[in-house]
Amino acid sequence: MPPGVRPPRPPLEPPRESQPRKGGTTAGEGQEGGFPPERGFMCGIVGYIGFRNATDVLIDGLRRLEYRGYDSAGVAVKTPQGLRVVKRSGKLSALEAALKEEKLEGPLGIGHTRWATHGAPTDPNAHPHTTEDGRIAVIHNGIIENYLELKEALKARGHRFSSDTDSEVLAHLIEEKYRGDLFEALREALKEVRGAYAVVAVHQDHEEIVAARTVSPLVVGLGEGEHFLASDVPALLPYTRKVIFLHDGDVARITREGVEIKDLSGNPLFREAVEVDWSLEAAEKGGFPHYMLKEIYEQPWVLENTLGGRLVEEEGDVDLGLELDPLEVDRVHVVACGTAAYAGLYGKYLLEALARVPVEWDVASEYRYRDPVVDERTLAIAISQSGETIDTLEGLREARRRGARTLGVVNAKGSSLTREVEAVLYIHAGPEIGVASTKAYMAMLAAMAMLALRFGRARGTLGKEEAQALIRELKKLPRLVEEVLEKRPLIAHIAEKYHQAQDFLFLGRHVQVPTAYEGALKLKEISYIHAEAYPAGEMKHGPIALIDEHLPVVVLATQGPLYEKTLANIQEVRARGGKVIAIATEGDEEIRKLAQDVLYVPQVHPLLAPMVSVVPLQLLAYEVAVLLGRDVDQPRNLAKSVTVE
Ligand code: G6P
Repeated sequence: MPPGVRPPRPPLEPPRESQPRKGGTTAGEGQEGGFPPERGFMCGIVGYIGFRNATDVLIDGLRRLEYRGYDSAGVAVKTPQGLRVVKRSGKLSALEAALKEEKLEGPLGIGHTRWATHGAPTDPNAHPHTTEDGRIAVIHNGIIENYLELKEALKARGHRFSSDTDSEVLAHLIEEKYRGDLFEALREALKEVRGAYAVVAVHQDHEEIVAARTVSPLVVGLGEGEHFLASDVPALLPYTRKVIFLHDGDVARITREGVEIKDLSGNPLFREAVEVDWSLEAAEKGGFPHYMLKEIYEQPWVLENTLGGRLVEEEGDVDLGLELDPLEVDRVHVVACGTAAYAGLYGKYLLEALARVPVEWDVASEYRYRDPVVDERTLAIAISQSGETIDTLEGLREARRRGARTLGVVNAKGSSLTREVEAVLYIHAGPEIGVASTKAYMAMLAAMAMLALRFGRARGTLGKEEAQALIRELKKLPRLVEEVLEKRPLIAHIAEKYHQAQDFLFLGRHVQVPTAYEGALKLKEISYIHAEAYPAGEMKHGPIALIDEHLPVVVLATQGPLYEKTLANIQEVRARGGKVIAIATEGDEEIRKLAQDVLYVPQVHPLLAPMVSVVPLQLLAYEVAVLLGRDVDQPRNLAKSVTVE
C-alpha cells in the first residue's frame, strides 16, 4: 500500500435482501453447447506439504479458488498405503462425498479443479493424472500444444493412457525422465513440451512437491515446517501471507524445510518472498449473499484506497510515484480486455480531454494482430485486474517489441503484467472474486482519471485551478458512491419490472459510452439477457429498428455538455414505444416526463459521472440475475482470469 493510503474499512453491514429469490435455472452448473477449447486456463491448483492432513488443506484451498470456474476436481495424497488419487466430475461437493467413502490421510498432497478443454469433464479426465503404476501424480493448468505428437510417441514406447487430456502426457513424460530425482525429471520433461502450463507433480518415494510455470500463474506459500502451492493467493490466506510468485520458466522443489527454484536450464534462481496484505476476511464474502454484491458495496472504500495519498490538492496535481515522464510521450495506445477495456475507453476520453494527447484504444485481441503503428514516443497502457490476461499481455509485448514505453494499470500485485512493464499504477481494489468485475472497474476509472490529470498538468494542458476543482470532485466520490448504493431497493424494483425482457439496449454519450458498454456487459454476463450498448447518437443508424414496447432502453442521461442531445435520443425511443430507464442527475425533474423509470445519481463533475452512474447498472444486473436464479458469482462459460488466447 502506498504511504498515506488508509487500510480498508471492515465490510459494510450486508443490506437486507430486497427481493426474494425466485426459482429458475441453476445456470452455471454444467455447460451448454460444448466446451470452448480456448478457455482452458482457469483451473485451480493447490499443493501442501507439512504436518496437517493434506486433504483438508487441499479441499479448503480449492474451495477458495472456485471463482475461477471448473467442472471436475481431484486430489492426490501420499498416504501410508502409497500415493492415492480421488477425482470426480462436477462440483467439489461430489469430490468431498467420494472422500467420505475413501478417506485419504497424509501430510503431502496436490489438488486440482479442472475446466474442461481437451476431453469432456468426466472422472477419468479430471486431474490428478498418474502413471500406470500410480507412483507419479500430476496436475496441470494450461494447454500442451504438442501433446498429440508427444502422446503418439509415448504410446509407441509402451505407455498406456487413461484419459483424453493433454495433461496426462506430462505424467508419462516425467516418468520416462525419472532417474531418482523428481525435480530433474520435471525439468527434463518440460524441455520437450510446447505450450503454457502450471504443472505440479508428486512421487510416491519423495517427500516433496515439484512445480513449474510458463504463462499460468503459481504462487508458493511459506509456512513454518509446512509449505503451500496455489494458482492464486486466496487459497493460501488461511495459512500464510508470505508468498513467492513463480516467474515464467521457473521450476520449484518444495519440501517441509524450504523452496528451491531453478530455471529450465538448471541454473539456481533467487525469488524474493513478499507479504500480501489481503486479509482472509477481505477474500471471503463478509456476510453478503454473493461476492459480486459484496464487491459492489466495497466500492466507496476501494475508491478511497485508489485515490488515497495520491491527490495533492494544493498543487492541483496527483502523485502517482511513476518514473514515467509524460513529456516523453506523443501518443497513447490503450490495450485491455472485457471490463478493463471499457475502463480504458474511459481513459481515452479523459486523456484526450485533459492532456490533449492522442489516444488509440483497442481490445487487446485486436491490437496484438493489427500491426499497430508504434514508436518510442508511444506509451502503451495495459489495464488488467488480474495482470494475467494473455491477450492483454501479448498486446503489451507487441507494443514493447515495436519500441513503445509501457505502463500497467493493475490490481494483482506481483502478477505477470507488473513484471513486464516499465511502470505500474496499482489500482488497489483488493481481491475481486466475483467473475463479473465491479470494484476493479471503479478503481480503474479512478486510476485513469488520475493519470489523465497528471498528464494534463505535466503537458500544460490542464490549469491548476481546473485540476484542483477536479481533485475536490474526486475526493467526494467515495461518499457519492455510498449514496447511490442506498438506492438498491428502487433498483430492485426496476429489476422486478423488466427482468423478463429478452433484450436490453444501453445508450450513452462521451464518457458515458464506456458506462453504457459496461452496463450491458454486466447484464449479459450474469443474467444471460442479450444486451447491447451504443453511443446514443449512433442509435438511429441501426438499433432504432429494434425499439418497441418490449425493449427496455437504459439511457445514461446525466448532466453535461451533451445532455440535451441525449434527451433528444430519449424522445426518439419514446416515439417508438420503447421503455426508457434513465440514469439522471439528482434534481433533474424534466426527465421524469420522458422516462418510465428514473434512477438518480448525485451531481458530480461531468467527466467523473461514470463513477456514480455505473453503480446502478451493476446493481440492476445483479438484481435481474438473482431474480432469474442465475449463478451470479460464477456465470456459465465465463472465467475470472483468461490466460489463454
Ligand atoms: C475476463 C473476465 C472479465 C475481465 C476480463 C479482463 O473476461 O471475465 O471480468 O474484465 O477477463 O480481465 P483482467 O484481469 O485483464 O482485467
